[in-house]
Amino acid sequence: MTQNLNPVVKSLEQALADTFALALKTQNYHWNVVSPNFFGLHTMFEEQYDDMHAAVDELAERIRALGATAPGSLRAFLETTSIADAIDDADAIAMLDDLIASQAMLAKTLKAGVAAAEKAGDTATADMLTERLTRHDKQAWMLRATRG
Ligand SMILES: [Fe+2]
Repeated sequence: MTQNLNPVVKSLEQALADTFALALKTQNYHWNVVSPNFFGLHTMFEEQYDDMHAAVDELAERIRALGATAPGSLRAFLETTSIADAIDDADAIAMLDDLIASQAMLAKTLKAGVAAAEKAGDTATADMLTERLTRHDKQAWMLRATRG
């Protein structure tokens, strides 16, 4: 790995840890949500964590393609992520508010990653992170529209 690609790997590690943490939180809420709109929330959360679980694999394998070791432990993710853990005993509105805030945090991570990749001339990583940003913009919109 060349020196100037190092910030790109760091950005991918941040995106990986944040995506893993938000996937887990979204799945927690999929399990625990109680609402008259239970099925809608339960199903939407599942669609979102399924997307994020697939993304975790892509992000980790991009790190490998750049010649670095992919972090894959709870400790490594906890040390790196900026996404707070799930709120215990949250009601449905608190879950939605929390996910909306975490989606915004993850979007910030992804934007910084796109900038780092572009600066390093790594078009493939910039593309991958831009695609993730598009997905998370859509997920955040769905959460906001459901929140009302
Ligand atoms: Fe399930």
